[in-house]
Parts: sequence; C-alpha cells; structure tokens
Amino acid sequence: MTAKPHAGSCDRNREPILAVLRRHLGDARTVLEIGSGTGQHAVHFAAAMPWLRWQASDHRDHLPGINQWLDEAALPNTPAPLELQAVVGSGLRPLPPVPLVDGEAGFDAVFTANTLHIMGWEEVQALFAGLPPLMAPGALFIAYGPFNQGGGFSSDSNRAFDGWLKARDPRSGIRDFEAVDALARAQGLELGEDVAMPANNRTLVWRRAPARTG
Ligand SMILES: C[S@@+](CC[C@H](N)C(=O)[O-])C[C@H]1O[C@@H](n2cnc3c(N)ncnc32)[C@H](O)[C@@H]1O
Repeated sequence: MTAKPHAGSCDRNREPILAVLRRHLGDARTVLEIGSGTGQHAVHFAAAMPWLRWQASDHRDHLPGINQWLDEAALPNTPAPLELQAVVGSGLRPLPPVPLVDGEAGFDAVFTANTLHIMGWEEVQALFAGLPPLMAPGALFIAYGPFNQGGGFSSDSNRAFDGWLKARDPRSGIRDFEAVDALARAQGLELGEDVAMPANNRTLVWRRAPARTG
C-alpha cells in the first residue's frame, strides 16, 4: 500500500479557505471540486461542513490518491471522485452527471484551489466555458490561489513562483485577475467577493445569476 499523497500547502491553507467557504456555503447542498489534487481539501471541507455533498474530481491519475484520503476518512458526504478535466476546445470533460441529486439543475457551488496557474490559459478558458452546464442558477464559483492585478505581481514571492512555474511548464503561470474575471463574466458570473488570503493568495467568489421567476 503506497502512502497517501500529501501537500504541505493544504495543511497551511485549509483553515483560511474553510473560513471563507463557511460564509458562502451555509445554504448549499452540493459542491463540485475541480482539480482536487491529493484529496486533502475534500476531506477537510466535507468533514467541517457535513451538510454538503462534496464531489471531488481530477485527472484520472489523481483518483487513486484521492480515494485513499476519502476511504480513510469514510465520511458520508464524499462520493467517489470523478474523472474531470478542463480540455481545450471542449470545456469540462467528461461531463459529470447532472442533475446529481433528483430535482437539482446542477451543483450549488464549484470550488477549485491552486489550479488556474497550473493549467495552460486555454485550459483555463475551457474550464470557464464548461461551468454553466454544471452550475445551478444562483450557484457559486470559488477559486483560491495567487492572482496578478493591474499587470503586476502582488509580491516578490509570487514573481519568483511564476518564474518557477514557467521554467517547469511555459504554458502555466499566475493569471491576471482581470482576464480571469472577464472569462467569468462571459459565462454570466458576477464577482461577489475577493478575499485577501495568507501568503499573497486570494479567494474569488463569483455567482451565477439566479433563475428568473415569472
Ligand atoms: C497544484 S495542484 C492543486 C491541487 C489541490 N487543489 C490543492 O490545492 O492542493 C493542481 C491540480 O490541478 C489539476 N489540473 C491540472 N490541469 C487540469 C485541467 N486541465 N483540468 C482539471 N484539473 C487540472 C492537477 O491534476 C492538480 O491536481
């Protein structure tokens, strides 16, 4: 049996992220996490917010590690992780079954941490293009990670991190908040909150328009 995958960053950022999520997810029932990585966030957030059904997802290579975390925690609100990728030109594939719960028109929230600077910009575009069919009216899209603003890095450490990312994969890199927000707006998402987080990160919370009545 191989050791569970572990990211020290998750140990450091999970409580500050949880504080933001708690404020926004009190009325939510279902959350889709994109790019769950190790699965540590899924376990921590699902345990802390037992009213949620927390659906982890990632590339198929990550699913065994996520399963190790989920199986060990044995929580009642973490279904098996889904294979899900932002695919250039195709949105999010394969599309998870929607509605996931009878009568629901999509997830109440989609959460992603530290993914937008890892994938190429075209994948970031695909991710946003793929969101609407997965989000219920009024649903939230919540993204945690580093972002640039006004064309500049928010810290020397983020500048160095961006250099490290690009040396590893030239398609990756810290994204401009304005460009990401433009993608969100193009999908009908409106920024509701922009929370400064430790270590020069941010949590951005967008909301999809609620269903029209009448
Ligand atoms: C730095 S890890 C972050 C993992 C975890 N969310 C965390 O905060 O520790 C980046 C994650 O993004 C995922 N990822 C990369 N490209 C992706 C894509 N095109 N679609 C979905 N996820 C992707 C990777 O598989 C990986 O799990």
